[in-house]
Amino acid sequence: MNVSQIDDRNADQAAYWNGPAGQYWTDRQQIQDLILAPVSRILIDQAKITQDVRVIDVGCGCGATTIEIGKQLGPAGHVLGLDISAPMLARARELTPKNAPVEFILADATVHRFEPESFDLLVSRFGVMFFADPVASFSNLRTALKRGGRVVFACWREPRYNQWLMLPLKAAYKHVPKLPEMARQDPGPFAFAQEEWVQHILTSAGFTSVAMEAHDLHLDIAVGRGLEAAVQGTLEIGPASRALDGQPEHLRTAAVASIREALRPFLKDEKVPLAGSIWIVSATNP
Ligand SMILES: C[S@@+](CC[C@H](N)C(=O)[O-])C[C@H]1O[C@@H](n2cnc3c(N)ncnc32)[C@H](O)[C@@H]1O
Repeated sequence: MNVSQIDDRNADQAAYWNGPAGQYWTDRQQIQDLILAPVSRILIDQAKITQDVRVIDVGCGCGATTIEIGKQLGPAGHVLGLDISAPMLARARELTPKNAPVEFILADATVHRFEPESFDLLVSRFGVMFFADPVASFSNLRTALKRGGRVVFACWREPRYNQWLMLPLKAAYKHVPKLPEMARQDPGPFAFAQEEWVQHILTSAGFTSVAMEAHDLHLDIAVGRGLEAAVQGTLEIGPASRALDGQPEHLRTAAVASIREALRPFLKDEKVPLAGSIWIVSATNP
């Protein structure tokens, strides 16, 4: 990893996304992007992208949304994908069509020095919940926006609305110890689940007109490839995989059997659609 400047408080996240987790995400990019395609559709629709906008995709990972936005831009448009993970950005660059108005940068969103007031829109699909200091991070991101520019991002609502993550985890917990408790606002997938907290972050960072819209979805964690593909996915990424990490083989085997039985009732036509729920958050740079 060679991030030119990094907030020390994000160092553990940088290590995480450049270590085995970043590699798993990169290896699973194609499947993960199929599972999360419904989120991209809602996000890009709500972002109301016009042909000539300049956009930053924050925490763009392997670049699915960056590339998709690039396809909608005309010659004057531009999209910058920014991420702290070198392996994920390498995949994003591989996937980008030649001559697309798309650029990627390895940088920490909290401290990267943007050209001031040079972008119209900040978007993110699940890339903004991992900052140690979210107010400082959004304040910094806001410097990149022109006056009247907007931020529009997707983040997860509470775990209880996200069966696609919690069902496999609960099945695993029949056999292995619980993951360490996290405070509700600690960096992680659910850090932005609380509406008042997100309102607080964005208004403290200087944004106005903060709006949050809940969207319920069904995410096919098998991507049409049957029960075993769904089980395998839960072992590679997400909270069940973390709970099983490093556990003795006999406990892993028992947990996998329980995960399979928990998912089986949802199997239909080789799909395993499970409930998920997101916020689409939007706000304006006054
Ligand atoms: C859950 S992944 C989402 C990736 C991608 N947006 C997607 O939807 O597939 C979170 C992303 O945020 C990135 N990230 C975390 N902290 C960051 C930071 N301080 N600056 C830039 N990117 C960061 C991670 O490297 C990772 O790619």
